[in-house]
Amino acid sequence: MGVPRRVLAQDQVARVDDLIARMTLEEKAGQMTCLADSFRPFNPPNPQAGIQDERRLAAEIRKGRVGCLFNGIGVAGARRAQEMAVGESRLGIPLLLAGDVIHGLKTIFPVPIAEAASFDPHLCERTARAMAVEATAAGLHLTFAPMVDVARDQRWGRVVEGAGEDVYLTGLLSAARVRGFQGRDLRRSDSLLACPKHFAAYGAVAGGLEYGSVDISDETLRETHLPPFGASFAAGALVTMAAFSEVNGVPATADRELLTDILRGEMGFRGFVCSDYTADEELVAHGYAQDARDAARLAVLAGVDMSMQSGLYTRYLPELVNSGAVPAATVDIAVRRILYVKAAIGLFDNPWRSLDEETEKSRIFTPSHRALAHEAATRSIVLLRNEGVLPIDPGKVRKIALIGPFAEDRDNLYGPWAFYGDPGKGVDIATGLRAALPDPAMLAVTRGCDVGGAIDGGIAQAVAAAKTADLVLLAIGESQAMSGEAQSRTVIELPAAQQALADAVAATGTPMAVLLRHGRALALHEGVAGAGAILATWFLGSEAGHAIADVLLGKVDPSGKLPVSFPWESGQEPFFYDRKSTGRPVVDNGSTEYKARYATTDNSARFPFGHGLSYTRFTLDRLTLSDEALRWDAAIEVRARLTNAGQRRGSEVVQLYIRDRVASRTRPIRELKRIARVTLDAGESQTVRFSLSRTDLEFVGAGNRRMAEPGVFDLWVGQSSVGGLHTQFTLYGAPPGMTA
Ligand code: GLC
Repeated sequence: MGVPRRVLAQDQVARVDDLIARMTLEEKAGQMTCLADSFRPFNPPNPQAGIQDERRLAAEIRKGRVGCLFNGIGVAGARRAQEMAVGESRLGIPLLLAGDVIHGLKTIFPVPIAEAASFDPHLCERTARAMAVEATAAGLHLTFAPMVDVARDQRWGRVVEGAGEDVYLTGLLSAARVRGFQGRDLRRSDSLLACPKHFAAYGAVAGGLEYGSVDISDETLRETHLPPFGASFAAGALVTMAAFSEVNGVPATADRELLTDILRGEMGFRGFVCSDYTADEELVAHGYAQDARDAARLAVLAGVDMSMQSGLYTRYLPELVNSGAVPAATVDIAVRRILYVKAAIGLFDNPWRSLDEETEKSRIFTPSHRALAHEAATRSIVLLRNEGVLPIDPGKVRKIALIGPFAEDRDNLYGPWAFYGDPGKGVDIATGLRAALPDPAMLAVTRGCDVGGAIDGGIAQAVAAAKTADLVLLAIGESQAMSGEAQSRTVIELPAAQQALADAVAATGTPMAVLLRHGRALALHEGVAGAGAILATWFLGSEAGHAIADVLLGKVDPSGKLPVSFPWESGQEPFFYDRKSTGRPVVDNGSTEYKARYATTDNSARFPFGHGLSYTRFTLDRLTLSDEALRWDAAIEVRARLTNAGQRRGSEVVQLYIRDRVASRTRPIRELKRIARVTLDAGESQTVRFSLSRTDLEFVGAGNRRMAEPGVFDLWVGQSSVGGLHTQFTLYGAPPGMTA
């Protein structure tokens, strides 16, 4: 059924039952309908879909034909809409007010893939909580976030919205984001319902092609793509969104096995499912529905409780039920799920929850939120390479040439899905540096080229600036329009004009640090790849310039780790570190003839998952296991000593990987199972401890069952998904009589 009854007080359950008993079919279809908000339009709704006219939408609300509005913000407009629903409709059922608060409302935090580089669930929870405070202050109850799709191909534009290529890290951070959004009490006015999306396996679209098809085994679906949803539901999420894409020939929006048998039967999800934007109507284009009526029928029978933006449910559900094509009980179950969620956040007791104009004035874009955005931005930066160029020593570096299309650009600081943010309020790199340098005049800015094209004389100016400087900072990468939804790219490289600029400036020989701006992994070449220093700075949000300056000047030690692998070549995509061995792996220093590799490059990464340097130097030693035999129902403790062997305080993310050497399904060459973030002063050491048990070794085997199999496991404790201290242990089978 819907939200666990324990979440609801008995009187709330009775209230929902009473409402359902009194609702007409039209009103039930209304509750199952989510439309773009015309009272406070922010993200202009699709002119081909939904109701654009505020008066028409008002009439629909008064008839009880709308259950949820999305993508508008502002308390005044929300109160007007809520007044129509509560005070002017027959049953007075409050509206649910939703929006895409993906990485910030007015205070824009780093894009989710950037923040994932912190490898810090607590940070993710803190930033989500701040976003929730701003979103609820602006009159929202629900955000369509976190995106929990595990990204398996960096050509896919939506890599930017998730937590990267690894299932364990994505699960850890997604659950943290759900906790942050929702807080400890759903009834609080600053609790924001989360909506882990897009169910499911959207990150596995073939070729990284947006909205494309997904063809994966049942086992891979359950092993790689479902666990982050399970972690998010366990963290309390009560809403989820079906994916646009099809899985194994059935569009998710019409896939009853996915949305009911797996989501509710196997995973125990108890909230409601929303379709993605007109995804039910798109079943016709998929070639899966005859027409719009058929699409509505298929979606509701599959388990889509709420239809977003198409209006199909109000248009067809009453007739579908009256004709017997859809059981009345199916509609009642969907409505109950939705009303239970509205009751769970206290909307029936207080329809004006989160609609307070004083709160709106005091809780948005606050200094504390900006300070948190600054902290998150510094923690998202990944130092990929540093040959003694950074940090900048103002005593030695007197003249800095800041070059590139993003040197003082403010239009591409936020990244995609930040349409509530105010463009002019972000701090660009030049501004951040001028504020941080002892003398702003040290900095000379030269654009050099545009994002996607050359500027007459731009390279010559940039080369001249580089020749007279002690250090070049090259600000290049993707614009935010090149990242996000519907931005799949065939090649994940820098635009040619930027590569030409980089190569020309690199040829001057002036020491150079590259500041990459991007929403995905990039394949780096020539002048960029060979730069003395490379920082992955993603899209860092409101405080980008200050954060980048703090890291460049060493005020903050870079501590980010890559949540996605940077390949040598675009052609290696789909590329992920937890890949299979194949029967002909390239083994260290072994022959590469007739091996699983490409002709032009081996199938490793230029910068691997989990990689990230700091300004100090960490070493690991003393790897020990409490026991080399792991008994079936026991645990082993893994210890290693981390030492800060450098000259300054810094942070490291220690990572524990395993490999199941022999199993009834081939296993990845490495799987991340634990992380620990440690901050140490120069010369300080700390023993890092992890505990592993059989459940950490499970995979999805025959019959889609999670299972662990006795045998030998490799174990590494390291600073990335490559190298590290190695040992092994053996898992022993269940003793006689104990169930395996
Ligand atoms: C979009 C996205 C989804 C978003 C929704 C509402 O197309 O796929 O992630 O939440 O529409 O804006």
